[in-house]
Amino acid sequence: MSASIIDGKQIAEEIKKEVARGVEELKKQGITPGLATVLVGEDPASQTYVGMKVKDCEALGMHSIAENHPAEMREDELLSLVDTLNKDNDVHGILVQLPLPGHIDEQKVLLAINPDKDVDGFHPDNVGRLIIGQPRFSPCTPAGIVELLHRSGNPPAGKHVVVVGRSNIVGKPLAVLLMQKNDRANATVTVAHSRTQDLPEVVRSADIVIAAIGRANFIKADWLKPGAVVIDVGTNRVEDATRERGWRLVGDVDFDAAVEVASAITPVPGGVGPMTRTMLMVNTVEAARQLSGIS
Ligand SMILES: NC(=O)c1ccc[n+]([C@@H]2O[C@H](COP(=O)([O-])OP(=O)(O)OC[C@H]3O[C@@H](n4cnc5c(N)ncnc54)[C@H](OP(=O)(O)O)[C@@H]3O)[C@@H](O)[C@H]2O)c1
Repeated sequence: MSASIIDGKQIAEEIKKEVARGVEELKKQGITPGLATVLVGEDPASQTYVGMKVKDCEALGMHSIAENHPAEMREDELLSLVDTLNKDNDVHGILVQLPLPGHIDEQKVLLAINPDKDVDGFHPDNVGRLIIGQPRFSPCTPAGIVELLHRSGNPPAGKHVVVVGRSNIVGKPLAVLLMQKNDRANATVTVAHSRTQDLPEVVRSADIVIAAIGRANFIKADWLKPGAVVIDVGTNRVEDATRERGWRLVGDVDFDAAVEVASAITPVPGGVGPMTRTMLMVNTVEAARQLSGIS
């Protein structure tokens, strides 16, 4: 068997077209969806991520405010900035790029964001709403994975999904999304982690495997049930002397072998990553609608 490749870039492009239409509709009503990105420090990866988000906004006709500040920014200064953005009517979404420098309490900052503008979906108010099945926004990576499953013709309803990883950003909210009682979900979900006994056997019981671990090529092909659908969230740098930069990105699943066993699989890069970026745009447009009272 050779798996079909779930093309996250192509699916993300499809969704971006829908977002652009949503932006046009809002503009006709005098509303331009706006995203504020907040970056503290000079971490190159964070700078790249934030830069891409600003570019995405511009490409979709949205308004963006890039707040870039030095690593020495004090916590009270950051909280005051968040407060200003909370009150700014042109800002519908606020994204504080993590991680923040060690002297700043991340939780305190995330709690300070108005939940109506929390387009990352990390505020406890939004986490609680997600659990009871009344989400304001779904966190971007889990929401992107649900879109990937549906749009690639692999709906999770009735399937056994094994999520490997239980972080607050990916594993936990994804499990919650997939177990909801609705047509987009209705999966039977198992969440595995570093203390799971006999992980290969647990993974072998899955119709859909979602790997969010952060360890290169960790999940082996012989752990997969033949025909399983594999979504690889992991982004791991491995040395590669053939590349000018000296490294390349690989996922958490041993792709080259897994492609022979799975029925469908996401590549890394080009699978989940483009979806995460795109869902931030989806959430920002949704925030603009909700804040403007448009259903
Ligand atoms: N493409 C994207 O858009 C995107 C977005 C977010 C994250 N990511 C990537 O996804 C990966 C996971 O991110 P994260 O933020 O969720 O990471 P994280 O917070 O480090 O969580 C990793 C999870 O993997 C589990 N784990 C670690 N070693 C394991 C093992 N040997 N066996 C089973 N489970 C193990 C951990 O278990 P314990 O809880 O027991 O420690 C933890 O729950 C990373 O590579 C990250 O870069 C990609």
